[in-house]
This record gives sequence, C-alpha cells and structure tokens, in this order.
Amino acid sequence: MTSPQVASRLDGPPQRVAIVGGTGALGLGLATRWAHAGVEVRIGSRRADAAQAVAAQLPRASGGENAVMIDGAPVVVIAVPFSAHVETLRSLAKVIRPGQLLIDTTAPMVAGRRGLRPITPWAGSAAEQAQDLLPTGVSVVSAMQTVSAATLQDLRQRLDEDVLICGDRSADKAVAAGLIESIRGLRAVDCGPLDLSGVCERITALLVGVNRRYKTHAGIRLTGLPVASTDASLGRPA
Ligand SMILES: NC(=O)c1ccc[n+]([C@@H]2O[C@H](COP(=O)([O-])OP(=O)(O)OC[C@H]3O[C@@H](n4cnc5c(N)ncnc54)[C@H](OP(=O)(O)O)[C@@H]3O)[C@@H](O)[C@H]2O)c1
Repeated sequence: MTSPQVASRLDGPPQRVAIVGGTGALGLGLATRWAHAGVEVRIGSRRADAAQAVAAQLPRASGGENAVMIDGAPVVVIAVPFSAHVETLRSLAKVIRPGQLLIDTTAPMVAGRRGLRPITPWAGSAAEQAQDLLPTGVSVVSAMQTVSAATLQDLRQRLDEDVLICGDRSADKAVAAGLIESIRGLRAVDCGPLDLSGVCERITALLVGVNRRYKTHAGIRLTGLPVASTDASLGRPA
C-alpha cells in the first residue's frame, strides 16, 4: 500500500479521487462532474464488475472494489446510505492510510410517518462517527449533503449553489474545497469544525421536503459573503 500525502493547498485541486459507493446516485453524480472536469475518478463498489460498468461510461475513470480503488488516492469520498455507514467505515479503516483525506457526504435520515427525518448518530454526526472509526492520521471533512445527485448526474443542468464544508484542519478543507470547486457552479463555504457537521447534515431532510413540494432539486446559497470569502477563510490564494 502506498501512503500518499494530502496535496498542499497551493497545489490546486487533487487530480485523483476514489469514491466508495461510486455506483450509487450521489457517487455517480460526483464521478460524472469530476470526470468531465479532468479529475481521474476511481469508482469503488462492493462488486468490482458493477464499478467497472459505471466507470466505462465516464472519461478518465476506472472501477473496482472499494479497497482497491482507495489505495493511493489522496482523497476518498464516502457516498453510501447511512444504514451502511458504520459497516463501510469499519472495512475502510483496515485499508485507508494516514495522510489520506476522507470526504463524508452522509446525511443520516430515517423514513418517518410524515416523511424523511434527520437522526443523530451516537458521535453527534455522521462525519464525527467516521472520524471516530478511522485510524489516527486520516482526517475527515464533511461536504455535499445538500447537493442533489440528480442534478449532478445531468450535465445539461447548470449548478449554482454552495457546499457547506466542516473539518478540523484548514489545509484539509482547502483540499476538499479545491475538489468541490473544480465542479463549475459549486462554491465551498467553510462552516467551521467537524463538530458542526451535524447542523449541515440535518438540512438535507429539510431540502428533500422542499424539493418534493416544489418538484425541483433546490440547493443552498448563503448570501452576503464577499466573493473571495471562502478563499480567504480557507487560506487559499484568492
Ligand atoms: N442522493 C442524493 O441526492 C444525495 C445528496 C447528498 C448526499 N447524499 C448522501 O450520499 C449518500 C449516498 O446516497 P445515495 O442516494 O447515492 O445512495 P444509494 O444510491 O442508495 O447507495 C449508494 C451506494 O452505496 C452502496 N451501498 C448500498 N448499501 C450498502 C451496504 N449495505 N453496504 C455497503 N455499501 C452499500 C452501494 O454501492 P455498491 O452496491 O456498488 O457497493 C450503492 O450504490 C447518503 O449517505 C446520502 O445521505 C445523497
């Protein structure tokens, strides 16, 4: 196994990303946008053939079992249902290496009597749960919970929204922001440390309800931020 270092924030967005659960709705959406933005995408799955079938549809993409795909990737994105979060993290913990960055996209929800409702994991949020389950030296940034998979998958759809990101290290958030902003129309907003991720994760249930009522795929846009505020906050050159 290699032990890649997370790219310096001044090196530009990472050129390679592995997506655990890359065959799913969000995983495919992200893979589609990143592959068309010039990023080398590795589609991970529990089944290599399923991942390879998805990768065959995309430029610069390969597919295989999750553990194989994350080997050597500076950034690993986890995009599996919350019900599979702990189980997936436990198997990732055996193969992920210090220096790799995990971006957690999970919005913990359950279907209630009146629709999808947010739930709070024992650690406070899915992202903190991930951090707790991963080995020391693997850092977690949470992001993407409010971006619609359907919109990401359809390249004809113009994106124009913010991505709320939380994490404990500015340098890691800068790497995540670079990757996110390599997708045209997405702006990363630094929302503070990982222990605020639960606030962002809970917004998804609200958005799902809004989208159902208005029959759309609305996202989040924060107003009043100076144009370059995310760059300043994340320590990147404007
Ligand atoms: N859908 C959205 O619009 C959206 C938007 C923002 C955030 N999210 C978040 O993104 C995550 C994925 O959502 P999704 O809609 O993409 O889910 P999904 O399509 O239902 O599943 C994603 C992938 O997870 C893997 N998976 C499913 N069950 C699993 C299990 N029991 N164990 C291990 N892997 C399993 C599957 O990959 P393999 O079978 O190939 O292994 C599947 O293709 C969720 O946590 C969600 O909150 C979703």
